[in-house]
Amino acid sequence: MNILITGGAGFIGCSFVRYLLEHIPDAQVRVLDKLTYAGSWENLADVADNPRVTFIEGDICDVATVREAMAGVETVVHLAAESHVDRSIMGPQPAMQTNFFGTFVLLEAAREAWLDRLTTQRFLHVSTDEVYGSLETGECDEEAPLNPRNPYSASKAGADHLARAYCVTYGLPVIVSRPCNNYGPYQYPEKLVPLFVYRALRDEPLPVYGDGRQRRDWLHVADHCRAMYVLLENGEPGQVYNIPAGNERENLATIKVILDELGKPDSLIKHVADRPGHDVRYAMSGDKIATLGWEPEVEWEGGLRQTVRWLADHQDWLERSLARSREYFASWYRDRR
Ligand SMILES: NC(=O)c1ccc[n+]([C@@H]2O[C@H](COP(=O)([O-])OP(=O)(O)OC[C@H]3O[C@@H](n4cnc5c(N)ncnc54)[C@H](O)[C@@H]3O)[C@@H](O)[C@H]2O)c1
Repeated sequence: MNILITGGAGFIGCSFVRYLLEHIPDAQVRVLDKLTYAGSWENLADVADNPRVTFIEGDICDVATVREAMAGVETVVHLAAESHVDRSIMGPQPAMQTNFFGTFVLLEAAREAWLDRLTTQRFLHVSTDEVYGSLETGECDEEAPLNPRNPYSASKAGADHLARAYCVTYGLPVIVSRPCNNYGPYQYPEKLVPLFVYRALRDEPLPVYGDGRQRRDWLHVADHCRAMYVLLENGEPGQVYNIPAGNERENLATIKVILDELGKPDSLIKHVADRPGHDVRYAMSGDKIATLGWEPEVEWEGGLRQTVRWLADHQDWLERSLARSREYFASWYRDRR
């Protein structure tokens, strides 16, 4: 299996590269990543010498780069994205460019490369539960209307529609997944778990949006990697699959486990003004992916505590990751002056 993973140097991507190398003996893995502040080859240092993996530094918005990356590939797992809601609110352009236009470039390259010789190719487009928008009660199944409420989720919803349109219009074998919030090693320290571990380790206040009672469902990245592979093997082209974890928790409950694991006091919690348009709750039904034989295995609190320990043991990695974003945004603003 020749597989292209976009965004493979980011949090979920680097775990999926490792998953394939460990579990799928015939997988030849090609990683295409722009190495924004969120991605680094350092995240794949332990597999850098593996002859089954190759690395391309490049932008999914660049047609020539993407065409070249697609050569000889039968499977695409599309993870590259500007993935942070807060950054998309501060400046939406990169999310629109990468998440929507970049997905279009990839779909077009797949269409060009595959359509006159379609056999067993698959294009897994990784969307998000956030495309459904905020839900007070109940759960969304895959037929629920999309109702994104911030620039990030709107750009992901646009890409999700486009990916499905390529299947309907051109017969491209696209599968769309909608996973819930992931946690685990190598998550960039702008997201809740690693950011709060980083700050708590320094006894800095943890800025909690509003009352902190927003609810999220938490999926361990190892469970997500298994789910993506199940979809590649058994998912049906043209179908959408939710990937919930059944671990719906209030943010405050998650934060209290982090503080407890680090032996830090709850007094570090500092409530701040809520994020504009903050979604209160996401919840999805997982009946469809269950029919393919997948269910989450990692127990939430144990998985979270282990992740907190991993982050606490990798403070140098946290520091280097944060230094990268300082450099990246300094040059981003310089280039646009
Ligand atoms: N992390 C979550 O909780 C979560 C939940 C649901 C869905 N998702 C989706 O999963 C995917 C992966 O998320 P993540 O948390 O690993 O994100 P991440 O921010 O950790 O990694 C994104 C990767 O994409 C790369 N990238 C960004 N723009 C690029 C471009 N133009 N060209 C090539 N590479 C580019 C970055 O360098 C980085 O390596 C995203 O599509 C995200 O929307 C994530």
